[in-house]
Amino acid sequence: GLDGFDHYMLKEIYEQPESLRNAMRGRLDDQNATAVFGGLNLTPQQLRSVERIILTGCGTSWHSALVGEYLIEELARIPVSVEYASELRYRNPPIENNTLVFGITQSGETADTLAALNETKRKGHRTLAICNVVASSIAQAADGGVYLHAGPEIGVASTKAYTSQCCVLAMLALYFGRMRHLSFEGGQRLIEELRLLPNAVQQALTCNEQVKDVAKKYASANNVLYLGRQYNFPTALEGALKLKEISYIHAEGYPAAEMKHGPIALVDDATPSVFIVPAGGTYDKVMANMEEVKARGGPVIAIASEDDPHVHQIADDVIHVPQVQQFLQPIVTVVPLQLLSYHIALIRGCDVDKPRNLAKSVTVE
Ligand code: F6R
Repeated sequence: GLDGFDHYMLKEIYEQPESLRNAMRGRLDDQNATAVFGGLNLTPQQLRSVERIILTGCGTSWHSALVGEYLIEELARIPVSVEYASELRYRNPPIENNTLVFGITQSGETADTLAALNETKRKGHRTLAICNVVASSIAQAADGGVYLHAGPEIGVASTKAYTSQCCVLAMLALYFGRMRHLSFEGGQRLIEELRLLPNAVQQALTCNEQVKDVAKKYASANNVLYLGRQYNFPTALEGALKLKEISYIHAEGYPAAEMKHGPIALVDDATPSVFIVPAGGTYDKVMANMEEVKARGGPVIAIASEDDPHVHQIADDVIHVPQVQQFLQPIVTVVPLQLLSYHIALIRGCDVDKPRNLAKSVTVE
């Protein structure tokens, strides 16, 4: 049931501290400063020989693949490519030996993801699923995999499955990193940060009332831009997708610095931009991008770290999130964006749990 929440989407947003705990349960190995997975069905030798990784999926799951690319390349130094499953299945790209293919899917039933996995498996590559629904078609088709353990996701817009996908990908990056160059101490530090994550997400949820006010202010927009860089570029795409699907407002996500190559032409006083600008390496650059938008009269909503002293000077509205290491930021910064789309959709009278034209699992291509 709804457990007192008005909608499944809201309930599932609030379940995230718990779903993240479940994703990590039994998988953090302090003794060896690594992660452990029961169902990969590959020997350490086979996993050690992996030279390339392909992450494939659709929609929100494809966004988590983009996060996974940053994670695995940074922490494990394995080259990753991200593919839309619908493209990969027909594109026939050359795939090198020792490539491991991950299909990422909440439902485990998405037709394109299943076909992309079967096609790469047929060619002799190892395939694994990162999946929520146990014993689903994709979980069965893959050679092995990792379950999210997020519990049933009923709202059509994916929320808790997304953050759990990002979390599993972070643990996989730790695991592959520890088979390679990542030191014991390095592994320990990542584990410590992972353990802080559920509480950070819990704290991020306390922005709900404030997000409601921001939603009131911007609910009549016809276009919204979402901008972020590095780990938070996928967050921009995911924030935009959430708004599109449930409020039917046109939204676009971009890497913040791509603005000046075209999208900035869209900026006017009726087109809000949501900047994801937590503390980190590109903070100053994203702030500069924000000033460019302000200078052209665009309203700015910022998702920023809790004690950011500067962002108020530029942004019209600031939603603060707790500070976590950059590799985990997408899991925290997406929370206010999920809530923002929820509240805007409510104000606009949309059916948030069953948006028009959409189905929970897309079993046709
Ligand atoms: C967005 C959404 C869809 C799914 C996509 C893939 O909120 O729910 O974009 O992410 O259809 O579905 P799964 O993950 O079940 O393969």
